[in-house]
Amino acid sequence: MTQEKYHTVPFAFERRHDKESKFRGQAMLDSLRRRRSIREFSSDPVPRPLIEIAVATAATAPSGANRQPWHFVAVSDPPTKTEIRKAAEAEEREFYEGGRAPEAWLEALAPLGTDANKPFLETAPWLVAVFKEIHGVAEDGSKITNYYVNESVGIACGLFINAIHHMGLVTLTHTPQPMRFLNEILSRPNNERPFILFPVGYPADDCTVPDISKKPLDEILTWVE
Ligand SMILES: Cc1cc2nc3c(=O)[nH]c(=O)nc-3n(C[C@H](O)[C@H](O)[C@H](O)COP(=O)(O)O)c2cc1C
Repeated sequence: MTQEKYHTVPFAFERRHDKESKFRGQAMLDSLRRRRSIREFSSDPVPRPLIEIAVATAATAPSGANRQPWHFVAVSDPPTKTEIRKAAEAEEREFYEGGRAPEAWLEALAPLGTDANKPFLETAPWLVAVFKEIHGVAEDGSKITNYYVNESVGIACGLFINAIHHMGLVTLTHTPQPMRFLNEILSRPNNERPFILFPVGYPADDCTVPDISKKPLDEILTWVE
């Protein structure tokens, strides 16, 4: 049975010299080191094909049993963005000012200077909402199990962020909690749950970012050789 379902095709692999691999890897690292989460956006428009490329890049991600348990909704419609901003800010007010956030979490967020106001949800030309599919739905309505959903969608989102950066655009990994309002506003079915809301665009002219740094390699990498 398994034999019948298992088909292969040749793998088109391009072997590179170590020197070229290092050059390419270093170039990508140098570029990614300039990526930052942006919270002040310009309203300059971004052509739809760029969003399409970013989502297509995300969709190349590996996923548990190749279930591809994700769905992307790209919003540029101003009234919908306004609706999303209102709902997100209501949740964020509960988080920051209404006692929903534990004190330790607020302390961890302090260096980032974030608060309940999210004007970028209206300013950014695009909001890309990523939904995780907690299970699939067969034609007869029965449930199809998905595997490693969080890992799979997390990897897809990482590739999305990379594509956005590579194209010279900026984004923010935004997670107002809870985000179920996105199902309602964007008419997504009940087997999908909001995962991340990415505003996408260009930074505002006077945009600043928190003065934070990444851990050094020797703190995060152990070799066993
Ligand atoms: C899963 C996840 C959720 C996040 N949620 C938010 C958020 O809701 N609001 C926000 O301003 N930043 C959010 N961030 C962005 C982080 O604060 C940011 O990545 C971190 O401070 C490092 O900054 P950098 O992205 O500029 O390197 C989130 C990041 C991740 C990975």
